[in-house]
Amino acid sequence: MAKVKTAFFCQECGAQSAKWIGKCPSCGEWNTYVEEVIEKPTPGNSLRASQKLATSRPRLIADIEAREEQRFTSANKELDRVLGGGIVPGALILVGGEPGIGKSTLMLQVALNIPNKKVLYISGEESDLQIKMRAQRLGLTDSNCYILTETNTETIFHHINDVNPDLLVIDSVQTLTTPSIESSAGSISQIRECSSEFQKFSKENGIPVFLIGHITKEGSLAGPKLLEHMVDTVLQFEGDHNHMYRILRSQKNRFGSTSELGIFEMRNDGLREVSNPSEILLTHRDEPMSGITVSATIEGMRPIMIETQALISTAAYGTPQRSSTGFDVRRLNMLLAVLEKRCGFRLSIKDVFLNITGGLRVDDPAIDLGVICAILSSSEDVAVSDKACFAAEVGLTGEIRPVNRIEQRIAEAQKLGFEEIFISRYSLKGIDVKSLGIKIHSVAKVEEVFSILFG
Ligand code: TYD
Ligand code: MG
Repeated sequence: MAKVKTAFFCQECGAQSAKWIGKCPSCGEWNTYVEEVIEKPTPGNSLRASQKLATSRPRLIADIEAREEQRFTSANKELDRVLGGGIVPGALILVGGEPGIGKSTLMLQVALNIPNKKVLYISGEESDLQIKMRAQRLGLTDSNCYILTETNTETIFHHINDVNPDLLVIDSVQTLTTPSIESSAGSISQIRECSSEFQKFSKENGIPVFLIGHITKEGSLAGPKLLEHMVDTVLQFEGDHNHMYRILRSQKNRFGSTSELGIFEMRNDGLREVSNPSEILLTHRDEPMSGITVSATIEGMRPIMIETQALISTAAYGTPQRSSTGFDVRRLNMLLAVLEKRCGFRLSIKDVFLNITGGLRVDDPAIDLGVICAILSSSEDVAVSDKACFAAEVGLTGEIRPVNRIEQRIAEAQKLGFEEIFISRYSLKGIDVKSLGIKIHSVAKVEEVFSILFG
């Protein structure tokens, strides 16, 4: 009897080893190696490989006919945007996110809504009935979508041949099993093998495949990094369970930019696309409140007005707390140090809480000035006008630095009815201030902003 061959795999990065090791030499994680059964290489396999070799041949790049990528729309504007303008045939797309965030809802909605395409939705997580109930809840039961509840890839490919779909959705990659490998569903070698089967399928047939993947507790996609290398696009669906907003961002995209963002609202009847995020991200204030400012940021190609809230209070315990949601806490510490050193505000004995509303995470440095002003507004207990907004980076010396695409930011602020905007003096080049319907405060130092705002 042939000996069963096993190997040890790092559950974190997918590295393989013949024996167990405590610390992964590849990713440095401890205790991540697990023994898994792997396929025994048989002569038949290598024969098939050499036959396959004979059918492919090297071609001059000049001889390869360039076809215009025939992207098709998913009928979901936010998803199309994040994908870089629609679905590319033959693309393998991984959709990751925490359990319960709405991955199945999003993909089922797309599967049911897509026009003139036959979709096969394969679920290893829910029964036909559950999917039907969800479809009813979404109000979309009349469509060209087939449901298959199956996890064995051999059976799945058999059904794919029958149905001949234009688009495939697999929920989720962790439930798949291939009979060529003995280890259990969700193990590294199963995920790797099943994904590569679908990779091959999508490339050979030009059919796009969406793979849904769960996120590990550390927040990395589907555990193994190896999946991220294998697929063309990695989409991350994220958001706060307590918030109704969900954000779809792309971490890797062979067919488009990774800076695009899709915003959805989770409602009783499914996910609604949010095409004008600024309007919902700004809370409507009846009276001016201290500690709140609005910044004009850019996410991907889109300008978005984002609200920042700060709360400064006297530290109750010896060590003051610095807590921030949606904004890098190190950057917050840096801005606090600038305020302390350059402007003489004694914030080191205060607790500082910072929150970007709507559950968004912002990396755009243009939010710096808004953050600083929110902190000072709370600290001085003086409200900043809700008709004022900010778009500038703050440097270590307290200088106000210019940010990119300032015209777009100003235009968005103007569109949403803001009456004044604070920008860097060095951003002014090429802007015709007089022709704008919004008052521009061009400033060079943090101190100037304070004297304008708080006198
Ligand atoms: P689901 O798509 O099952 O999450 P995932 O596949 O990422 O694990 O989403 C489940 C959550 O979405 C659940 O908490 C209920 C909520 N939900 C709505 O609010 N409205 C809806 O119409 C649907 C279908 C789900
Ligand atoms: Mg699900």
